[in-house]
Amino acid sequence: MELGNARILLTGASGGLGSALARSLSWAGAELLLAGRDAGKLNALRGHLRTRSDMIVADLNREEGIAAVARAARDFDINVLINNAGVGGFGLLDHQGWEEVERTLSTNLLTPIRLTQALLPWLKAQPQAAIVNVGSTFGSIPFAGFAAYSAAKAGLRGFSQALRRELADSRVDIIHLAPRAIDTPLNSPAVNALNRALGNRSDTPEAAAKKIVEILKRGDRERHIGFPESLFAWLNGVMPHLVDQGLAGKLATIKKHATTTE
Ligand SMILES: NC(=O)c1ccc[n+]([C@@H]2O[C@H](COP(=O)([O-])OP(=O)(O)OC[C@H]3O[C@@H](n4cnc5c(N)ncnc54)[C@H](OP(=O)(O)O)[C@@H]3O)[C@@H](O)[C@H]2O)c1
Repeated sequence: MELGNARILLTGASGGLGSALARSLSWAGAELLLAGRDAGKLNALRGHLRTRSDMIVADLNREEGIAAVARAARDFDINVLINNAGVGGFGLLDHQGWEEVERTLSTNLLTPIRLTQALLPWLKAQPQAAIVNVGSTFGSIPFAGFAAYSAAKAGLRGFSQALRRELADSRVDIIHLAPRAIDTPLNSPAVNALNRALGNRSDTPEAAAKKIVEILKRGDRERHIGFPESLFAWLNGVMPHLVDQGLAGKLATIKKHATTTE
């Protein structure tokens, strides 16, 4: 992707990864339409960008929010959509309220599909366009304690691959990126404690953003970010029983941290 010619709608721009990504993309020459719910954070972020930017404040889980963001995206003349907004969802499924499960599925899966659908006619009319979906390692290594989140991110991966195949005769690229843990507010103190207990590595938002920009510049369409997570993602695809066994040994630790927040 030629970032110097990119006019990007970035959702979740007020968050940890989103704001680092906005700065890296702007540094690489991209113009940015920042979307989020926190106007103060979006405004402050604009002050750190080197290129043309605008912002749109909207709740993407609401139909009017999708409509407002899609309208702003057309006004900004975007040719790239980055579906980055998301929420966490740590907890044992039978301890979670349905509202939380629904919010996890909605924000991480239905909303990116809905926004993509709303902007697809516009993007198809561009000389060159791309949709970038920010998934998670848990979309390929579904993890105990993250059932709904893993389902949403696995769904986003499936959506990305299916849409890429559906648009193979178009000029719209579909890119799916799956980072490992990142130090952002998405992870509650319980998740951070779990990651420390399991020895799971996490990246700074700046390191993850730098990697994403490198991948976009290179033109890769499907990438896991982080090693050995990428190896385990492959292993889960070919021999899921081995990952079942590995995670069974960690279950007591996962349950302990999942229930300390209740
Ligand atoms: N952190 C990790 O460990 C990790 C690992 C792998 C993948 N990811 C993925 O990376 C992406 C960014 O996450 P992050 O770590 O940067 O999380 P974050 O710091 O919590 O930021 C989440 C962003 O999503 C926005 N958002 C949430 N619900 C929304 C809604 N209903 N409408 C509009 N915007 C909404 C938030 O907006 P406001 O703050 O303005 O409300 C915020 O900008 C997510 O897709 C996440 O799943 C994160």
